[in-house]
Amino acid sequence: MYKIAVLPGDGIGPEIVPEAIKVLEAVSRLYDIEFQYTEALIGGAAIDKRGQALPPETLELCYQSDAVLLGSVGGPKWDTLPAEKRPETAALLPLRKKLGLYANLRPAYLFAPLAEASPLKKEVVSGTDLLIVRELTGGLYFGEKKREKTVTGEVAYDTMVYTTEEIERIVRLAFTIARQRRRHLTSVDKANVLTSSRLWRDTVERLKNEYPDVTVTHMYVDNCAMQLVRRPDQFDVIVTENTFGDILSDQASVLTGSLGMIPSASIGGRVALYEPAGGSAPDIAGQQKANPLAMILSAAMMLKYSFKLDQAAAAVESAVDRVLAEGYRTQDIYSPGTKVVGTAAMGDLVRQELERETRWKKS
Ligand code: IPM
Ligand code: MG
Repeated sequence: MYKIAVLPGDGIGPEIVPEAIKVLEAVSRLYDIEFQYTEALIGGAAIDKRGQALPPETLELCYQSDAVLLGSVGGPKWDTLPAEKRPETAALLPLRKKLGLYANLRPAYLFAPLAEASPLKKEVVSGTDLLIVRELTGGLYFGEKKREKTVTGEVAYDTMVYTTEEIERIVRLAFTIARQRRRHLTSVDKANVLTSSRLWRDTVERLKNEYPDVTVTHMYVDNCAMQLVRRPDQFDVIVTENTFGDILSDQASVLTGSLGMIPSASIGGRVALYEPAGGSAPDIAGQQKANPLAMILSAAMMLKYSFKLDQAAAAVESAVDRVLAEGYRTQDIYSPGTKVVGTAAMGDLVRQELERETRWKKS
């Protein structure tokens, strides 16, 4: 039996999380595995009900679980709170840090039926299959920061800081993952300007000798942003620091049709965290318009990385592929000639397809 901490959070979180659980429940029946779900508050929802974004019982539940499934945190209601209170900086970042999740894996994979869903040309996006390995517990997000008054106004700074150890562990992980894929690693930095990037690049250069079967390319982050939308098929695994990875993963989502298509796994500690790469989307929250596929695919990553249920994970992914091939779309991935369905209906379709496919395979 696997214990899963369920943290729906804010915005579309409470709408998409139940769809992932729906699919996990089907996996449980079909593969005869038991999941136990315990829900807890996080983010704005926790601020409203408990007075803090990451209540101690939520953190404790995560420590006691085998994996954490998270919807999303944040929204306009809490945007004006100071950093030490707001959902992003008082809940999500400390949760990642406390669980030791230094690596965030964000696959940008274009499901073939969605080639028309991207605003980019079909010839450009087709064949997109890349993985961003984002460093998650260092860099600008966690470096020393300050804002203070001066004689004339204010001064504020954030520092991008990395140690050799921090770079080594994420780069080694990226090399290992590249070995299981197409064995090409692109290390993204800004070594022409930033000192931390120069340490990053030197570290990759030193480590690459240990992985002679993996080809390495160094790329400046600005160029990478351009190459991603120009010729995405040149990328297999991208490894980069926290902030660059945050930005590039949103950009890469356009290749897949929508931000609602990028799942993520935050790993590196005993308990991993699975959350869609997109945010809380307050503009569409509560309207059954959100795309639950990134959440469902995050649950598939949980099956694979936390529970080593590779076959079940692959079955979920192929169920998603078939639902898309049948022409069902949430509004964010709509293209002419397809059928728009709501959040829960999309979850039902994936569950049904999973049940059909798995039964057929078993019989
Ligand atoms: C993400 C999000 C978060 C981040 C925010 C909500 C703090 O943008 O997971 O990409 O910047 O890491
Ligand atoms: Mg982001």
